[in-house]
Amino acid sequence: MIITVAHSKGGVGKSLLAWHLAIGFKAPIIDLDFQKTLVYTNNLRKVNGYKKLKIIQPETPEEFIEFIDEWPEDKNIIIDVGGFDSNLNRAAIYIADVIVTPTVDRVTEMAGLYRFHKIIEEISTKMNADISVSVLLNDVSPTAKNFSVMEELVDNLEYFTLMDSILAHRADFYRLMEEGRGVTELEGKSKAKKELKKLIKEIKKSR
Ligand SMILES: Nc1ncnc2c1ncn2[C@@H]1O[C@H](COP(=O)(O)OP(=O)(O)O)[C@@H](O)[C@H]1O
Ligand SMILES: [Mg+2]
Repeated sequence: MIITVAHSKGGVGKSLLAWHLAIGFKAPIIDLDFQKTLVYTNNLRKVNGYKKLKIIQPETPEEFIEFIDEWPEDKNIIIDVGGFDSNLNRAAIYIADVIVTPTVDRVTEMAGLYRFHKIIEEISTKMNADISVSVLLNDVSPTAKNFSVMEELVDNLEYFTLMDSILAHRADFYRLMEEGRGVTELEGKSKAKKELKKLIKEIKKSR
């Protein structure tokens, strides 16, 4: 299964999510972002005594397609797409089995989500494919309960569906990442771990 974490906007939690998913799924990562956040995190992982994840960094759409064409269907791989629009990023969206789009629950985020939906619409039309995007509320206040604004927005966007899972703003997500670790590697209780595990279940089911 190819899981692409995508949004044309930056700062919504794509790299953070891709990292924890890769460790949760025990899967390699394709890092398409020129910021190379995950390559950096992977080096921290080694410094802290853990075995590095496999990170693939294709430079051109051709190189990317060649790699993904040979990827076995029964193996998982996570793709972290850069927060911008490009042919490479569009290819990563088109070939995905599951597309997860993290978004923050703020009215100011709506324009960005709209823009990304336009891109999905364009890819769907051009490729004559019905692309379905799973929108994930991320970094929300741990006490927030009402997400009706986002629910209504996503409801009105043809290619988008809101996921049941939600990731709250949790120190475990960024603290663990700063050590190059994933929340699923935590021992003992952790709300972040619980939320990520629920998300992984939902992703597996959504195929
Ligand atoms: N659920 C979360 N809890 C705590 N911090 C988060 C969460 N999601 C994202 N962040 C933080 O928000 C910032 C942006 O996340 P990042 O993954 O770099 O976004 P993107 O890859 O979309 O640009 C980072 O500092 C990250 O640690
Ligand atoms: Mg990123």
